Formats: sequence, C-alpha cells, structure tokens
Amino acid sequence: MNSIKVQAPASSANLGPGFDVFGIALREPVDMIEVTEEEGDGIFIVNKSKITTPVSVESNAAGVVANKLLNDFGFKRSLTIKIHKGIKPGIGLGSSAASSVATVLAINELLGLKLQQWQIIRYSSYGEAACSGVAHTDNVAASLLGGFTVVKGERAFSLKPPANIAVCIATPSISLPERKTEYARSILPKHVELDKVVNNVANAFLILAGFAMHDITLIGKGMNDEIIEPVRRRLIKGYEDVKKAALDSGAAGVCISGAGPSMLAIVDSSIYSPRNVTDCMVEAFGRNGITAEGFYTRIGKGAEIVRQ
Ligand code: HSE
Repeated sequence: MNSIKVQAPASSANLGPGFDVFGIALREPVDMIEVTEEEGDGIFIVNKSKITTPVSVESNAAGVVANKLLNDFGFKRSLTIKIHKGIKPGIGLGSSAASSVATVLAINELLGLKLQQWQIIRYSSYGEAACSGVAHTDNVAASLLGGFTVVKGERAFSLKPPANIAVCIATPSISLPERKTEYARSILPKHVELDKVVNNVANAFLILAGFAMHDITLIGKGMNDEIIEPVRRRLIKGYEDVKKAALDSGAAGVCISGAGPSMLAIVDSSIYSPRNVTDCMVEAFGRNGITAEGFYTRIGKGAEIVRQ
C-alpha cells in the first residue's frame, strides 16, 4: 500500500483584464490531497475536512481527474483519495483547481506516470470542466506553478512576484446560482467593441510588465477590465464601494477574484497596511448590508508533495 500527500494552494484568476490567462497562487489557504493505492479496483473519496465537498467520483474534481488518469493510462488500481480541504468552493479562489492539481501530482508520483507540465495542466483541467463546464486552465496553472502565471491552453509560465506585494481578499456572503462559475460565464458578452479589447490588451501588458519589472504600481494600474467585470459586478452588491474603499486605503489595484464573488486588492506592504485595506473592503461590504470575511496573504509557491 503506497500513499502520497500533495498540497496545492488557492489561486486567483484573471487579475482583471487577463480573463482565462492570468493567475496568482496564494500562500494560503491550501488543499491537501492524500492518495493511497492498493490492489483492486475503484476510486473512493473521503472528505477529511469540515468544508463540504461531494464524495461521488463523478461530481468531485479529484475523482474526475483520478478516473480519467486511470482510464487513459490503463491502470487497474484501487485509489482512496482523502481530501483535506482548506479552500472553500464557490468563492473565486480556485478550490476545484487546487484539488485537481494535487490529485494529478499525487497519482503521477504514485503510479510513476512521468507526466510533463502540459499533461498535468490538461488532466487538472478535467476537474475544472466537471465543476464549471469549461476546462479553463488559469487557476490550474497558478496552483501548479505558483507566483504570477500566464497560460494559453496547456502552455504556462510563471514569474516571481515583487517582494512587497500583499494580496487582500474580501469574500461577501452572497447567494449565487449553483455552479456559480458556469453561470458567471454564461452572462458574458459574445461580441466586444474594439476599443474595449484594445484597452484590455494594454492593461494586461501593464500587469505583465509590472511583474517582470517588480513594479507594484504598474501591476495595479493594469487591473482594470472593461469586458468581463462590468457584467459580473452586477452579481456583487457593493462592488463599487469595495473597490473605492480599497483604492482609498492604499491598494494599487482591485478586481473580482476569478468568477467572484470574492474581491481582491494588491497592496505594496512597504507603504500601506494590507490589514487596513482588507478591513476597509469588509467594512464597505458591510455598509451595503453584506456580511463579508476578509484575510490578507502573499503570492505563494505552487503545489508540492508533502514528505512525511
Ligand atoms: N477565468 C475563469 C473565469 C476563472 O473568470 O470564469 C474562474 O475561477
């Protein structure tokens, strides 16, 4: 009986204009997946955390990717997947991506599959497809590689963040439709005006240049999206106030985290207090009658095997 534990971090996708392309890994929270293989057949999922997660193979991201790997590589094994979930699902912090990435890495190691990076991204994206209807790879790339990531399909690279960048998250208690990401994608425009595309491309390059040159102000300036956020912000009561509160208290940039409803601000912690920015965001939700939870963290490393 062999066992492997892998930890994979939460992530935030898009950073405004980088829809389905940009991501950052967060230092915390993390999901931990422990996969045990034995003689036999079948995949069994055990939830070891207080956070609710489905335990049927077809509806759990970890189960979906495990099933796909066993089928594609022709392994007849019994796998037990113990899920220690630290990332709440449905709040825009890459919960399904983290579980998917950790499961792929654990099975890769256990069965000696020697998967390449693009294959790890591909298999992890099957978990995303099961949870959100689309195999988007932005959260997966961030959770796998850490840092700031750029992905096109299965090709991804990562840049190290500036030393003083802090990430503030405020998560409102807003009830959203089931399969929230699928819904938040279904309302997006099918056609976009050229000037908005031009502005988004320019802003995306400001973010990339900001990470390349370790310039937090430049990253923040780029975090303005004229295509996706104007639609999705209607789902987030208080969006305008939260954005203003974050910027007024020193944030360099603010955006919706992934498909929401969490909002994310980046802060140069050598000048401003991430705790204060987070508190201001939570208070702004409060002024709109919305309870919110906040925390601040750093951009973190990617998934890794936990040696016991
Ligand atoms: N890029 C995806 C979206 C991320 O915005 O729909 C979902 O977490």
